[in-house]
Amino acid sequence: MKIQLQALGFILAIATLVAAAANPIGPNPNPKRGLVYCPSKLYPNDDQNWIQPESPLTWYYNYGGKPSTALEGGATELQFVPMLWGNYKNTFIADVKNAIAQGYNITHVLGFNEPDIKGNGGSNITPDAAAARWKTDIQPLAELGIKLGAPAVSGAQAGVTWLKSFFAACNDCTFDFIPLHWYGNFDGLASRIGQFTKTFRNQSQSFWLTEVAYSHQNVPATQKYFNLTMDYLDRLPTIERYTWYGTIRSNHSSIGPNATLLNEEGGLTYIGAWYLNKNQSQAASVAGDPTEH
Ligand SMILES: *[C@@H]1O[C@H](CO)[C@@H](O)[C@H](O)[C@H]1NC(C)=O
Ligand SMILES: *[C@@H]1O[C@H](CO)[C@@H](O)[C@H](O)[C@H]1NC(C)=O
Ligand SMILES: *[C@@H]1O[C@H](CO)[C@@H](O)[C@H](O)[C@H]1NC(C)=O
Ligand SMILES: *[C@@H]1O[C@H](CO)[C@@H](O)[C@H](O)[C@H]1NC(C)=O
Ligand SMILES: *[C@@H]1O[C@H](CO)[C@@H](O)[C@H](O)[C@H]1NC(C)=O
Ligand SMILES: *[C@@H]1O[C@H](CO)[C@@H](O)[C@H](O)[C@H]1NC(C)=O
Repeated sequence: MKIQLQALGFILAIATLVAAAANPIGPNPNPKRGLVYCPSKLYPNDDQNWIQPESPLTWYYNYGGKPSTALEGGATELQFVPMLWGNYKNTFIADVKNAIAQGYNITHVLGFNEPDIKGNGGSNITPDAAAARWKTDIQPLAELGIKLGAPAVSGAQAGVTWLKSFFAACNDCTFDFIPLHWYGNFDGLASRIGQFTKTFRNQSQSFWLTEVAYSHQNVPATQKYFNLTMDYLDRLPTIERYTWYGTIRSNHSSIGPNATLLNEEGGLTYIGAWYLNKNQSQAASVAGDPTEH
């Protein structure tokens, strides 16, 4: 009995070490960690959260081709990554060239957002139409030395099918990295990255997780997932960059109140603080409810 208790104590000590290792406070600045910036007309002051001193954040995208001036002039300079969101007549190439002429350090661009789905942010494009648009409105940027990110499909299985068809239709196009999105549990995230690595091994072995969160979970599950995921993404060499979703307040969130970086008053949640390499005593509340500390 005594021996068993000692063994149990040892197992608990190991478990504590493992939990401590899953610490989201990674490098600062962190070349991988960025922001998926959802501009808020209602709460423009919230933007200040993302450009504080000593922030690990190094880059952002805003689903568009033009930089967000609201994120400029602070202590932290974030590199802008333009995106052509959907299949429409656009000025994407001209916008990217203009930004470069103005001195923006544009090294990467992103292709279509969730083209495999309609609604919920999906741009709903057929693989053939996306390939045609890609060839005229994205591919020419490679000649400027800009790295091209493939379309970012949703986390659905149909997303993989869509991307396979797209790569077949865009067979003379070039891709430097493949973005992906994930809102499920940690095992699901790891196996999704594994699936992309295997399925798209001929296209690229560099991945960007441009939207990730564990949606509609309680606070302990969300925080545990966050810590595990940040640690995993910081270590995994095939993940070049990532962005937790998102900059929205908890009471304007489509992924539940507990996964957001901001509470309903625009203060940092614990997750928001950890994402910025701050400790939890620098957060305004544990989760999205401002009264819950
Ligand atoms: C531009 O951004 C890249 C990261 O993508 C960085 O390596 C490079 O140093 C930056 N260049 C300038 C001039 O800031
Ligand atoms: C990858 O390319 C190799 C060599 O060209 C080819 O044999 C293989 O079938 C391709 N794999 C996939 C998944 O397309
Ligand atoms: C948010 O977390 C709280 C506390 O853990 C929980 O009671 C609530 O159900 C969660 N909300 C959602 C939508 O999961
Ligand atoms: C997550 O990481 C933070 C910061 O290191 C730590 O304070 C917290 O206890 C961790 N939470 C869990 C559930 O691992
Ligand atoms: C979110 O919370 C803020 C602060 O409590 C409030 O002013 C705003 O109306 C709320 N928005 C929604 C959509 O509930
Ligand atoms: C949290 O960070 C602040 C600012 O760096 C520091 O003053 C404080 O001691 C830290 N608190 C804990 C509990 O680590």
